[in-house]
Amino acid sequence: MTLAITPATTTAVPAVVGAELRVPLVTGERVTYANLDHAASAPCLQEVRDAVDELLPWYASVHRGAGFASQVSTRVYEQARDRVRRFVGARASDAVVFTRNTTDSLNLLARSVPRNTAVVLFDSEHHAALLPWRGSNVQRVPAPSSSGAAAAVLDRALAAAPVGPRLVIVTGASNVTGELWPVAELAKVARRHGARIALDAAQLAPHRPVDARELDVDYVAFSGHKIYAPFGAGVLVGRADWLQQAQPYLVGGGATAKVTDHGDRLGVAWSAVPERHEAGSPNVVGVHALASACEILSRHWEQTVAHEQQLLTRLREGLRTVPGFRELSILNDADKVGVVSFTISGFDAGFLAAALSAEYGVGVRDGAFCAHVIVGRLVKKLGSHEERAVRASIGLGTTAEHVDRLVAALRTLVTEGPKWSYTQQDGRWVPENDTRTLPPFLA
Ligand SMILES: Cc1ncc(COP(=O)(O)O)c(C=O)c1O
Repeated sequence: MTLAITPATTTAVPAVVGAELRVPLVTGERVTYANLDHAASAPCLQEVRDAVDELLPWYASVHRGAGFASQVSTRVYEQARDRVRRFVGARASDAVVFTRNTTDSLNLLARSVPRNTAVVLFDSEHHAALLPWRGSNVQRVPAPSSSGAAAAVLDRALAAAPVGPRLVIVTGASNVTGELWPVAELAKVARRHGARIALDAAQLAPHRPVDARELDVDYVAFSGHKIYAPFGAGVLVGRADWLQQAQPYLVGGGATAKVTDHGDRLGVAWSAVPERHEAGSPNVVGVHALASACEILSRHWEQTVAHEQQLLTRLREGLRTVPGFRELSILNDADKVGVVSFTISGFDAGFLAAALSAEYGVGVRDGAFCAHVIVGRLVKKLGSHEERAVRASIGLGTTAEHVDRLVAALRTLVTEGPKWSYTQQDGRWVPENDTRTLPPFLA
């Protein structure tokens, strides 16, 4: 049976490293890898790799050396703050604190809010945004079923929040459904109630421009590895005052202006932000990669959005032809970035993911995507007992062939079954007698 899907057209987008990667199948063949897991970690952009290559000969200590290469590395590190500031449309007064990833950034923010801050968030958030807030002042609000209803739900929650500092946390795009949250509207509601608002842009920043001033958000957090710069850096951008008043996130060198010996104790004068929260040797390579990715993405939004939306339509049209396919959705009226989570009735998500990899060279994610609360609820609503789904996610490395291969593979698995035998090991499905060999550098 042929699939009634839109023809493949191509839009030139920045190239990724590993586009030609070939992976083994259990049958002994090798095929080009179909990476449909961009939402977890995106491949490195070729231009990001070039930027890193250009820096490496100059790589030296940051903030610590008098040598010329140290000065170059320090300049690269400090300039990256402005490059990131431009990417998210931050205010000139905003602090740009480099971290390891979004999780680190949101934990830093959670440690920095004044003690009695009332925190309000939807229960559909990723664990990185859901969990760092401690104490009784956290209101977890059930996610609304439409973006139209989100503002009213937040309005009610904030009306019930205690007097004092208030902070709303919201994701820009769901890592489960790809749906875009009405951030600007939610920011207006937050303002009406005197609340600040933090944007978890981990899934938004790779796919859409983010403008903190236009959205009127106070904080933006995202990860390098999700914007095609997988070198271990993330960032928190936002209002400096709470960050400045907070105890340093990590203590050690770099966060200290002066340490004095008082015999029985040490006197420590902590640095101002951003250094206050960046103790230890800075990750200049990661930060340079992240800032470079910001600039590369900024130059290609039109092509990127067109490329991803074409492939998303193709993916959803194709998946709807797979018997038993059901797509997870939180906000039934929202636009989406290229993330589709689904169940297929009668099939375990982990089994499907294992077979897609072993027999078709397709990489997807299965499980609850670090969003157990919402995935559990959505999957149950679809009538499944497993609190698990499959997630296919699209990005700059995705081609129409990858999408078509996933759809055709699922149709074959569902209608004809697997060609190989699988077993469960430690709760994961794996092929029996897996013949695939690791690349030589791991041998
Ligand atoms: C929406 C969202 N927020 C936060 C995170 C955490 O990002 P990281 O793992 O880079 O800290 C993720 C990661 O998947 C995410 O999708």
